[in-house]
Amino acid sequence: MKPLRSLRLSLRFIIPLVVALTLLAFAVVPLVEKLSLRWFVRDLDIRSRMIASSMREPLEEFLATENRAKIRALFLRAAQDERLLAIGYCDEDGKLVYRTPNFPAARACPPPHPSLRESTIVSNLPQGAVHISAHALFLEGKLSGWLVLVHDMSFVEHRSAETRKYIIALFAALGVVISLITVFVAHLSWRGWMEGVRAMLRGEGILRPFGQQHVPDPELQPLVGDLRALLRSMDVERRFTDDSTITWSPDSLRSLLHKQLAGERIIVVSNREPYIHLKKEDRIEVNRPASGLVTAVEPVMRACSGTWIAHGSGSADRETVDRHDRVAVPPDHPEYRLRRIWLTTEEENGYYYGFANEGLWPLCHIAHVRPIFRTSDWQSYVAINQRFADAVVREADSDDPVVLVQDYHFALLPGMVRAALPKATIITFWHIPWPNPESFGICPWREELLRGMLGSTILGFHTPFHCKNFLETVDRYLETRIEHESSTISRRGNLTLVESYPISIQWPPAWEKNLPSVEQCRSEVRAALGLPVHHRIGIGVDRQDYTKGILERFRAVEKMLELHPELVGNFTLIQIAAPTRSALEDYQTFEAQVRNLAIRINQRFSRGNWQPICLKVEHHEPEQVNRYYRAADVCVVTSLHDGMNLVAKEFVAAREDERGVLVLSQFTGAAHELHESLIVNPYHIEQTADAIHRALTMPEEEQRERMHSMRMLVRDFNVYRWAGRMLLDAARIRQREKLAARIGERS
Ligand code: G6P
Repeated sequence: MKPLRSLRLSLRFIIPLVVALTLLAFAVVPLVEKLSLRWFVRDLDIRSRMIASSMREPLEEFLATENRAKIRALFLRAAQDERLLAIGYCDEDGKLVYRTPNFPAARACPPPHPSLRESTIVSNLPQGAVHISAHALFLEGKLSGWLVLVHDMSFVEHRSAETRKYIIALFAALGVVISLITVFVAHLSWRGWMEGVRAMLRGEGILRPFGQQHVPDPELQPLVGDLRALLRSMDVERRFTDDSTITWSPDSLRSLLHKQLAGERIIVVSNREPYIHLKKEDRIEVNRPASGLVTAVEPVMRACSGTWIAHGSGSADRETVDRHDRVAVPPDHPEYRLRRIWLTTEEENGYYYGFANEGLWPLCHIAHVRPIFRTSDWQSYVAINQRFADAVVREADSDDPVVLVQDYHFALLPGMVRAALPKATIITFWHIPWPNPESFGICPWREELLRGMLGSTILGFHTPFHCKNFLETVDRYLETRIEHESSTISRRGNLTLVESYPISIQWPPAWEKNLPSVEQCRSEVRAALGLPVHHRIGIGVDRQDYTKGILERFRAVEKMLELHPELVGNFTLIQIAAPTRSALEDYQTFEAQVRNLAIRINQRFSRGNWQPICLKVEHHEPEQVNRYYRAADVCVVTSLHDGMNLVAKEFVAAREDERGVLVLSQFTGAAHELHESLIVNPYHIEQTADAIHRALTMPEEEQRERMHSMRMLVRDFNVYRWAGRMLLDAARIRQREKLAARIGERS
């Protein structure tokens, strides 16, 4: 707390307290005075009585002999006592007979009262207050007169004045001490509260440090539930409002970035680059890779601008960058910059082929291919993550950049960036499924990977199921605090929101304006394959990956032809299989299996020039792929396990004629959204065969209804919404952190 604020706050306590105590002191003083006066009078009574009794005997004797000299001498001796002001003797008629010199004239003898042997009064005389006591004297058993003792009471006043001073001083000191204690305790509680509220704003819950652990602060516990519920309902309300009021487009995404994130440029990190420069004889060609990740993130990057950091894997990549290893892309009309990172063959083998694709890829996909983990691959993975993290730090133009980390190639990078830029907003999106804790536990470096991922501000998966698997995995292997209600994980002061953000594609579709009509595509594709105009076509578009269920798809086509011989010669499945990760044995084996199965089925059913499966193992640019989508009657997606699968959404987006049917594996993220597709279990060959047949025989009206509904969904839940929701959540977290930091400054 700043000193001035602290002083002002303290004065607010101290002044009223001191005023209250002073008033109290003034009320108390008269009471104390009254009480002490009573005590002093009683003391003087006793004193007088003692003096009187010591004088009584000689005095009675001197009175009997009327020895005046002795009486005077007795009086003068007794009056030497400094408190005893005067002594007198009154006869039985009340007449003052003997007296010391300063016996007050105004106060002669007290009115005799036969029944009283002793009387006392306190009287205020011109020389001050006096205590006058009269003590009866007797001669031969008969009242002879009164011994009158006059005590000076000025000492009582002095003592009262002193007591008054002490009482007021005591109360003032008490006031100061109490206020200081109050302020100190209030200050400590205030700090505790502020810490708690700060933690809550960050979404950590209300905690107070206890050694290394965190335990709930009991003072704040009763409030925690209410405050959290309030924050949650505010979030839900805002999300709901955002969803219902924002039409997601490149413009809305741009304006969100400017308004909510103060115009930050974003930094994207992925292994695969969006544009690959390749040497083709004496020219350089630009290639767009077959990667769902690139398909989704590229339009977002074009909308937001910034820097995309990726592995420069093309044969002409080095020739096309500037001296900072940057190149402006898209090449025809640059909108953002691509920063390339170079890897040696050995590094690529260890980090990309080894740890990422032989280890993590099969680990996260249930496709019955066993993961392989080697220490040397892990070391390479760590080193390359660090290299990319360093590049992020160098590309950042502030200490709190927004960084979008893509996929399983960079599980460690969020932690590394967090260490260098603690205020960064790091959004990590895991594009592939997340397995259950047992499966993930196979990985020898599971804790390191999880810790790295928890450097993220937001950790996104396609489905709530993957989020749940992740939370359970963290719960199993790391010491963290997990809030299931808010889906957050807090570890060592860093908070990660784990949320599902189903990825999508751009809308309106990229190639819409330039593509030929559906009719033209239909006839051109058929003509190119030497097929008649009404020939039925199915399309499959995949990287040639064992997770894609290509073998199962072929078997389903075989079964369908068996069951429906009328389709023999009338149906072709065009399978576009983009070569991928071909350096790996599992992929080589799979490629051979796919080729052999296609050959076997083709041999079994071929008629003249016609073959049921047209396998195209080569790279296709997105425009070409779209022509096939538009030409097809059915698109078959039979992944055995897939985070989302954007082919399904691309097919829907390509069909503005609202024709064509989607057959979709239940094991894709897309199946959770595209309910009007024909959902299949790809392992069940007959079921898939039936679905393809049903698609080929589906009435046009039903096709239209289904396709229309799916198109509306892809239109509204497009990739700008995917990115927008993550950025909105990030903006909310950033706002809270800034507020928390401000509260921190004040407390
Ligand atoms: C999946 C991964 C992406 C990857 C893509 C292509 O979609 O999630 O990260 O880019 O496959 O694989 P590749 O290894 O060629 O980049």
